[in-house]
Amino acid sequence: MEIQKILVVGSGAMGSQIAMVCALAGLEVAVQDLAEASLEKAQSELRARVDRNVVKGRLSAEERDAAFARLSFDTDLAPAAEGVDFVIEAAVEKLDVKRELFAELDRLTPEHAILATNSSSFVPSRIADATGRPDRVVNMHFFNPALVMKCVEVVRGPQTSDATVDATVALTERIGKLPVVLDKEIPGFIANRLLGAVRDEAIRLLEGGYASVEAIDTAARTALGYPMGPFELMDLTGIDIGYYTKQGRFEETGDPADAPSRSVTEKVEAGELGRKTGKGWYDYTEGDH
Ligand code: 3HC
Repeated sequence: MEIQKILVVGSGAMGSQIAMVCALAGLEVAVQDLAEASLEKAQSELRARVDRNVVKGRLSAEERDAAFARLSFDTDLAPAAEGVDFVIEAAVEKLDVKRELFAELDRLTPEHAILATNSSSFVPSRIADATGRPDRVVNMHFFNPALVMKCVEVVRGPQTSDATVDATVALTERIGKLPVVLDKEIPGFIANRLLGAVRDEAIRLLEGGYASVEAIDTAARTALGYPMGPFELMDLTGIDIGYYTKQGRFEETGDPADAPSRSVTEKVEAGELGRKTGKGWYDYTEGDH
């Protein structure tokens, strides 16, 4: 199957950059989000990001304009879903929302379309049975910032067909990313599970009063060679993302060890979610970071 048209659902940091990566690779991309303001923010942020590549000589102005001409933005799902070959869902990390969305996508998209989710916490089998095409449901998990990070985890569920995995791997390569295929589904996949172990330990050190946010991040960067410390990374990806992931896991297992930590819960309740709100573990309003 030749993939020509993609639908990206959700225009947050992940959805918008995933859409741009696909448009830059020559695909026609519809981006759908219920919130008009989010679509507008996505467009202006993408313009600024991609303009930098033109200034740096990595992309011509014509290539940039052609990529933006391939992108369309819509608040309605039905027109955006028309004639698409592949969907990448990057909406909020809530299972009931995703299941409802996949049932609707199943009704609205052509029979042959593959329905992929960028979710890191919900494996294909949690979503696939909300559709009539469980063999064409797969996880295609990008990393933040999606314009930059090479890896895309491709995760198959028990019902995902080989053809779906092959098409997802081929699409990943076509958009210039590096596919990493998981043979069996597990929440968090590979990278987030590794990351989660480091993040949990960082929070334990902070909450135990052993070291400050700054000290822990500095050690991660300068002793381990991490590009950013665990707190800086939470601010980049959104503190709420990790919170919802843990909350979901806790609801499933009932194990207090899986529940969001006290300090993360406080940040979420205070609306301090990281860079996107101007404040998280660090303050971004005064240009100090
Ligand atoms: N969006 C798009 N591009 C960005 C960006 C953003 N938010 N932040 C930085 N960049 C670009 C910069 O524009 C720059 O591009 P340029 O070469 O054209 O100038 C390039 O990235 C390098 O940026 P900087 O020189 O400013 O800074 P760094 O060298 O520190 O790189 C980084 C920034 C790429 C974000 C790097 O710090 C990094 O790799 N950090 C770790 C990121 C990471 O671990 N991501 C995974 C998160 S987990 C996840 O996404 C899973 C999900 O389920 C939550």
